[in-house]
Amino acid sequence: MRKPIIAGNWKMNKTIPEAKQLVSGLVSKLAGKSEVEIVFCPPFTALSTVKDLLKGTPYGLGAQDLYWKEKGAFTGEVSPLMLKDVGCDYVIIGHSERRQYFGETDVTVNQKVKAALAVGIKPIICVGETLAQREAGETDALIKGQTEKAFEGIEVSAIPTIVIAYEPIWAIGTGKSSSASDANQVIGLIRNTVAKLYGKETAEQMRIQYGGSVKPENIKEYMSQPEIDGALVGGASLEIDSFLKLIHY
Ligand code: 13P
Repeated sequence: MRKPIIAGNWKMNKTIPEAKQLVSGLVSKLAGKSEVEIVFCPPFTALSTVKDLLKGTPYGLGAQDLYWKEKGAFTGEVSPLMLKDVGCDYVIIGHSERRQYFGETDVTVNQKVKAALAVGIKPIICVGETLAQREAGETDALIKGQTEKAFEGIEVSAIPTIVIAYEPIWAIGTGKSSSASDANQVIGLIRNTVAKLYGKETAEQMRIQYGGSVKPENIKEYMSQPEIDGALVGGASLEIDSFLKLIHY
């Protein structure tokens, strides 16, 4: 059985005092709930603060990006070891906003996946199609390609630690979520792609989330789909009430 995982991707939101307020409020109300794995992905500046607040809880900490080099003259970048040092369990890699605004490619995504695994941080790899790609009937080929490229050169032993987030770009922050059955179909395709590379048994162990306008009102539909193992949530992870409702779907 795969344990569902719900992660809050805060994106570029929350100062340190705001992060404290959100996480301490949630920790006191969640009271150790653990049927679902819960992960907080604050901006770099709040990682240390959030880590302190999560001490003694079962909740995980994730970063939103990393650079693949160990250290050196790479102004503005953050290394895998630095994320390990601050206590990250997870790192989001290849979010569509990074692909769209910061020039990330399938090649850099693959480099980042390898770099995270090398220090024992679990990647949450994002894949997803644009509206134009969906309307042109390119979704399946695109998702298959993004998945295969992200996994190039990755050992089979690492696969169960990796999470994939299927996030159709047209559904992010737009209020237009994918139907649960469409999301389930694409996520099934991702699992098949991984099964072709690593075998069915390994692919069955890997968790695949849906992301894109997940809200308290629609999360149950996604979570009840057989292929969907959780959600990567943006907007609705930024408030105590809505995040609590998501966890108690
Ligand atoms: P929203 O939940 O705000 O649509 O964002 C989804 C997302 O991009 C999570 O990574």
